[in-house]
Amino acid sequence: MQSRVARLDRFISVQTGINRKHVRLMLARGRVLVDGVQAKDIQQPIGEFSRVLLDGQVLQANTPRYVMLHKPVGVVSATRDDEHRTVIDLLQADYRHGLHIAGRLDLNSSGLLLLTNDGRWSRGLSAPDSGVSKRYRVTLANPIDEEYIQAFADGIYFDYEGICTRPAGLRILGERLAEVTLTEGRYHQIKRMFGRFRNPVLELHRCAIGNLTLDADLLPGQSRELTAWEVACIGASIGD
Ligand code: URA
Repeated sequence: MQSRVARLDRFISVQTGINRKHVRLMLARGRVLVDGVQAKDIQQPIGEFSRVLLDGQVLQANTPRYVMLHKPVGVVSATRDDEHRTVIDLLQADYRHGLHIAGRLDLNSSGLLLLTNDGRWSRGLSAPDSGVSKRYRVTLANPIDEEYIQAFADGIYFDYEGICTRPAGLRILGERLAEVTLTEGRYHQIKRMFGRFRNPVLELHRCAIGNLTLDADLLPGQSRELTAWEVACIGASIGD
């Protein structure tokens, strides 16, 4: 997701079709307001949530939105798909516009998924090296033992990327049940880590991202908006 920052004269020109020379005159005459303040500087950066008015007409007014969704198994983490229902299809039609996913889950995984229209926030969260922890509950086909704990802590080499995974936490919760904590998000990472032991993952559920835990009363398919406090807490954990 691109961060949409443009300089003011270009932004107005693209939005209105008015050439930039003319836009500069408009700015000089104080006809443009950015976030309620008369704008004069042609180079003023305009982000996706800057509110821009020309002669009182709104050119841009977007409100940042952040959503927690309980992704069910069998729904694809995408905004469009020809074959499967997408997580966007689970939201109310009048609420979907502009939202994208901040960190995917596989088709057959479930749990906490975040959606937003804020490109900077989602990029920070979903970058492979974001450093934000993600906690998963994993059900396996075969029994697990202490050997897994050390292997996950040491990191597992992925041939395809030629990298070693960052130290990951593994807690044994039952004979075939584990809690795994990652601080990165590589393709099918957990399945591939258990794959090293030839132990297939039967169920994978994301319980938490950073210090944000999926609400216990949010049923599969249900969603709610994050509070400002939750947004700020997650933002603060990026790059830890
Ligand atoms: N690791 C996986 O293998 N799948 C997911 O959906 C998330 C992490």
